[in-house]
Amino acid sequence: MKGIILAGGHGTRLHPVTLALSKQLLPVYDKPMIHYPLSVLMLAGITDIQIITAPRDRATFEGLLGDGSSLGLRLSYAQQEHPRGLADAFLVSADHVGDDSVALILGDNIFHGAGFAGLLQSLARDVQGCVLFGHPVRDPERYGVGEVDEFGNLVSLEEKPLKPRSNLAVTGLYYYDNQVLEIARGLRPSERGELEITDVNRVYLEQGRARLVQLGRGFVWLDTGTHDALMQAGQYVQVLHQRQGVRIACLEEIAWRMGYIDQDECFSLGARLAKSPYGQYIMDVAQA
Ligand code: TTP
Repeated sequence: MKGIILAGGHGTRLHPVTLALSKQLLPVYDKPMIHYPLSVLMLAGITDIQIITAPRDRATFEGLLGDGSSLGLRLSYAQQEHPRGLADAFLVSADHVGDDSVALILGDNIFHGAGFAGLLQSLARDVQGCVLFGHPVRDPERYGVGEVDEFGNLVSLEEKPLKPRSNLAVTGLYYYDNQVLEIARGLRPSERGELEITDVNRVYLEQGRARLVQLGRGFVWLDTGTHDALMQAGQYVQVLHQRQGVRIACLEEIAWRMGYIDQDECFSLGARLAKSPYGQYIMDVAQA
């Protein structure tokens, strides 16, 4: 399975912070935002990942993450000339996907919860159709909302409904089989001029090949698109760290635990950052 992180967009709700810097490079407590979605793909067992950026920011992302080899990954970069919508990812990254299945994650989504890695890996094994991940929210009318039957099959999908049929918001993580490339090629722009991911999902829904996996109360799904949401996400990560001593989305630790690099390599990555508590944490983890 291939991975795509969609890290373009304008970030207009975060102006003026994002006037000169990509949203997905902003810090969420101790690390750049892109670490969080990247960690999700790594935990899913995906190592061949393309990062889609706005043209302006590409070099900065490459400067941050490079070719990924130090983490045992294969990272590549592609540019989205304009934010043409989430489903545009499959046109931009068609060559990267090739004839494989693909996981798309939005570069500003944060997921955290016990058992997440195992769930991600088991669902990634044989993707037929699409797998969406739903999370209960208090204000479903602001999101794409899914409804499931008793087997977890998606039975309805509505975009920002006035009267939602459920409180399950469709999150920014999606698994697709290879048909997604063909579906994306056939999309027409919506009224707001974008290639909508909901339109892709609706095709799978009509084929009866869409699942919506529910991430329950024990999971946290955070968006970082507004000033308040960004600060709250940072505070969540900080609380976990200060209370439990864990750092979530620490790429070096995950790379080691997933077997992408060995313990010594993990330690050296920490040593390069040794003046920061983040670097110290990696060194401690690798010595434990
Ligand atoms: P949004 O939050 O919908 O858009 P945005 O990041 O441009 O922010 P704003 O609404 O404040 O202007 O996008 C969700 C994620 O998808 C985010 O990580 C940016 C990314 N994205 C792209 O990379 N390309 C696109 O065409 C779109 C629409 C979003």
